[in-house]
Amino acid sequence: MSLSFPDNFIYGAATSSFQIEGSYLIDGAAPSNWYNFSVNNLGIPSEVLNHKGCKHYINWKNDVQLIHELSLNSYRFSVSWPRIIPDKDQLPNSKGLDFYDHLVDELHRFNISPMLTLFHWDLPQHLEDQGGWANPESIEWYLHFVETVADRLADRVPAWITINEPWVFLHLGMIKGIHAPGYKDLKHAASSYKNILMAHSEAVRILRSYNNCSEIGISCNISPFTPETDSREDVEACQRIHDYHNKLFLDAWHKGDIPEIASQVFGKHTPKWNSEELRILQEPIDFIGVNYYTFFRVRYDPHAFLQARSAPPRPPLTDMKWEVYPRGLFKALEWIYNRYHTEIYITENGCAYTYEPSNSGEVTDNRRIDYMYRHLEQCSMAISNGIPLKGYYAWSLLDNFEWTFALNKRFGLIHVDFDTQKRTIKNSGYFYRDFINGKTEKPDHVRSDVINQYEGVVWHDDINFRAI
Ligand code: FCB
Repeated sequence: MSLSFPDNFIYGAATSSFQIEGSYLIDGAAPSNWYNFSVNNLGIPSEVLNHKGCKHYINWKNDVQLIHELSLNSYRFSVSWPRIIPDKDQLPNSKGLDFYDHLVDELHRFNISPMLTLFHWDLPQHLEDQGGWANPESIEWYLHFVETVADRLADRVPAWITINEPWVFLHLGMIKGIHAPGYKDLKHAASSYKNILMAHSEAVRILRSYNNCSEIGISCNISPFTPETDSREDVEACQRIHDYHNKLFLDAWHKGDIPEIASQVFGKHTPKWNSEELRILQEPIDFIGVNYYTFFRVRYDPHAFLQARSAPPRPPLTDMKWEVYPRGLFKALEWIYNRYHTEIYITENGCAYTYEPSNSGEVTDNRRIDYMYRHLEQCSMAISNGIPLKGYYAWSLLDNFEWTFALNKRFGLIHVDFDTQKRTIKNSGYFYRDFINGKTEKPDHVRSDVINQYEGVVWHDDINFRAI
């Protein structure tokens, strides 16, 4: 059976500035919080950050050529704030803006439509030093950055994402302390929560004033959760985690009201809102970008944050130890649409598996093809169930810098030799290209490969997602 998609469906791949660019301190750019965190907290040598990885800042033209070779009709990338506004004087750095200007022109030359993420986690370090998102001035800093980028690029970029995965950088960066800026500080996180919410809504209003910005949205990581057992404790723990992870931001924007879970999380630090602020929050968006990778089973744990923790994932797992669960994508899309009634893009979906090129230069990453096919299958089902899913962006175009895992997790459709910069399109890249060009039936050799590998695995279609 082959899958069907509408003719105008968007097929893309996604990246982010800090994960692919390299050369973080040249042409007037300043260090980001992720640059400093990587060097100081993760012990990653600056040499690796600047001169290994993908070096897309140098290789961008070749990379656009590869996007074209994959037949993608769109490319999602983010712009680096510390490249564009590096200094305390808040003046734009023309060389930083030129880089993205040329990139956008080159994409258009190949009829590849740009989708631009404004903030994918790399905050200028000097703003972090002034309190980062916890400082109420961060809203103005961000809006100035948004306007600077839009003034230069809005005439040629139709699709804009204000912020990537606010929950992740809030939770992992400011509560758990394992991402930049590395704080375990509820008070800081609570103030940041409010400022991030406001910054997004104000940015949407600003972007609306540019005629060509026809689609404006936000990308959130959405995971279905299921209680590990039927016990009341597990079910309630699961509900808390679902509310926290999936609703903390989206409910606030959608309803213009702060969800109950915020006060459970932030306690006495929960920010106060006036009616004008709550009104601003409800600025409508055109789409929700869903970043989907996996799902979680949740168990009660009296000692854990929100008295809940995830139970061990079950095979098949990716190199991130994330459970492969394609049906969860359908569940996530269904939940988003039923609750928020917007159009949807999948702005990230993919898996980390390490496969090196063979002597003949082939990268036989069959498990990635399997992962992609099974998730595209769920997209097709979502569309036939009436869910307005407009496009799919694979994460990621290139093997790249995977945050705390540095260069050790490979998500790319294109293999990158981080020493020589050689790019090799993986078999998953060719699979995706052929899929886009109409070859949408299930690849046979992949299926048998997977059956061997996952022998005995029961796919969990019967799990009851009562919590969402
Ligand atoms: C998402 C991030 C993206 C990438 C993938 C694997 O949470 O948005 O940058 O690291 O995970």
